[in-house]
Amino acid sequence: MTSASSQPVANPARRTVMAAAGAAGLTVALAACGSDGGSDGGSDTVGSGAAGSALGKTSDIPEGGGKIFKDEGVVVTQPSAGTYKAFSAKCTHQGCAVGSVSDGVIVCPCHNSHFSAEDGSVKQGPATQGLPAKKIKVSGDSIELA
Ligand code: FES
Repeated sequence: MTSASSQPVANPARRTVMAAAGAAGLTVALAACGSDGGSDGGSDTVGSGAAGSALGKTSDIPEGGGKIFKDEGVVVTQPSAGTYKAFSAKCTHQGCAVGSVSDGVIVCPCHNSHFSAEDGSVKQGPATQGLPAKKIKVSGDSIELA
């Protein structure tokens, strides 16, 4: 005589977990470009005469890489030895500042867009437009905005 009573032990209690979605804050940075009064025929001396905003030295820019000058909103690259290029450091996707340059690629940290360090073109979205080129002038070992 065995009394086998099988009773269900499982007692499913349902709970509803509510997750609050965090609101994403958007930061809009406006970069105002100063007007550039270019005058011809100035003496071309290297030194402390500010013909443009000095960005840095060529030795700051690694070959194949680059450096981001946040205050100026410019990224300077050296895609090949002795060739320096400059682009807007403001990502064309949503305006973040690009974050790094390596292996010939400028990367925006916000949504991981990739741009060519050679011509600023888009290598990987979500950005659909390349970084606009900026003019720079290399005087000796110093790089200035032209
Ligand atoms: S803002 Fe640069 S990838 Fe979105």
